[in-house]
Amino acid sequence: MSVQQEINKVLNAFQKISIQDFVQISNFHKTSGFYNYEEEDKIGIKGHFVTSPEISSLFGIALFNQFINKNPGIKKVHLLELGPGNGYLTYDILEQMNSNGIEILSTTFLEKSSYFTKQLQKFNKLPNFSIISDINDFSIEDEFIVFIYSNEFLDAFGHKQYIYKNNKFSEIFITKEKNHYLLNTLSSIPSEYIKKDFEFIDFKENDILEHSSLIDFFIRNLHSKINKFFFTTNDYGYTEYSKKSSLRALREHKKIDLFESFEGVDYSFSVDFSRLKKLFSPHNSEIVSQSDFIKKYASSFFNNSTDVKNKIIKDLLTGSEDGQMGLVFKNFNVKNYE
Ligand SMILES: C[S@@+](CC[C@H](N)C(=O)[O-])C[C@H]1O[C@@H](n2cnc3c(N)ncnc32)[C@H](O)[C@@H]1O
Repeated sequence: MSVQQEINKVLNAFQKISIQDFVQISNFHKTSGFYNYEEEDKIGIKGHFVTSPEISSLFGIALFNQFINKNPGIKKVHLLELGPGNGYLTYDILEQMNSNGIEILSTTFLEKSSYFTKQLQKFNKLPNFSIISDINDFSIEDEFIVFIYSNEFLDAFGHKQYIYKNNKFSEIFITKEKNHYLLNTLSSIPSEYIKKDFEFIDFKENDILEHSSLIDFFIRNLHSKINKFFFTTNDYGYTEYSKKSSLRALREHKKIDLFESFEGVDYSFSVDFSRLKKLFSPHNSEIVSQSDFIKKYASSFFNNSTDVKNKIIKDLLTGSEDGQMGLVFKNFNVKNYE
C-alpha cells in the first residue's frame, strides 16, 4: 500500500486526519513511508538531505568533547544513540571513546526504520550491541551512567497544529473534498490542555501553535527507563515561538508543497527547545547554538587548520550566512546526576 492509499483509508474512515498522524504515516508507514522504503541512499549527497555527522567526523568529536567536559574523569559508560540513521555518529563516538581509554559497556541504537536497521547491521560485531525500536525495550540498572545522544531525531516526530481564533485553539486537520486535500480546523478537547500549558505565550488571532504529544511521551518514557543519563542532541529548532507552521516537506534536496507529492517525502518540524528544557530539567540543562557548540568543543580542529576542505566543513557546521546550519541548529544538553 502506498502512503497516499494509507492516508485515504484514514480519511474514508474518519473524514479527517491530524497533521501529526499524517506526518507519522508519511514518515513511518511500514513499507512505503519515507524512512522505510528501500532505496540506495536516503541521507547524504545522493540522498534527500545531508546531516552534520554525514558531513564530517568533527561533529562526533565535538559531542564527545562535550561529554568529557561535563563528565570529567569518567572511565566507563553505556551508549545509546536515538535515531542513528546510517550510524556515522556512533562510529565517530566509539573511535573517540576508544582512543581516550573509556570503556564502552554496551552500545544501543534506538531506530524504528527498517531501512536504517538493515544499514546498522554493520555494527553487529560490537560487544553488547543491540538495536531497539521502542525506548521501553531499553533496560539498564540504576547505578550505570548512559550517554544518550542524537542528531536530527526529534524533528522527525509528528506534531499537532492548533490555530488561535476567538480566544481558543482549534486543531488543524486534513480533509478531502472532491479529490482535493484541504486544511480545516475543528475544536478538540486537547486544545483546552494546550491552552493551559502554553498560557505564558501571548497568542493573537490566527497564530499557530505546534505541539508534539509524541515527544512529550517519549521523554517521559526515557525518564522512566533510565536513572542516570547525560543527554545531548542537535536539531533544527527555536526557543522563541514563531507562532507559524514550521512543517517542512523535502524531496530529493528540494522543498515541496504540502500535498504536492505523497511518496518519498521527508516531513519535519522545528524542535521546541524551551519545551525540552521544561520536560527534562530547567536547572541542569542548557541550550546553545550549533555554531557556539562546534566552536567550543572542536576549536582545536579549526585553529590548527588552513586546509580549504576544513574551511568548507566549518562553514557548513557553524554557518557563515543567515539561515545556515550553525545558526538555525541548536544543541540541547542535560545531565541528571552529580
Ligand atoms: C533525520 S534522520 C537523522 C539520522 C541521523 N541521526 C543523522 O543525523 O544522519 C532521523 C532518524 O531518526 C529515526 N527516528 C525518527 N523518529 C523515531 C522514533 N520515534 N523512534 C526511533 N527512531 C526514530 C529515523 O528513522 C531516522 O533514522
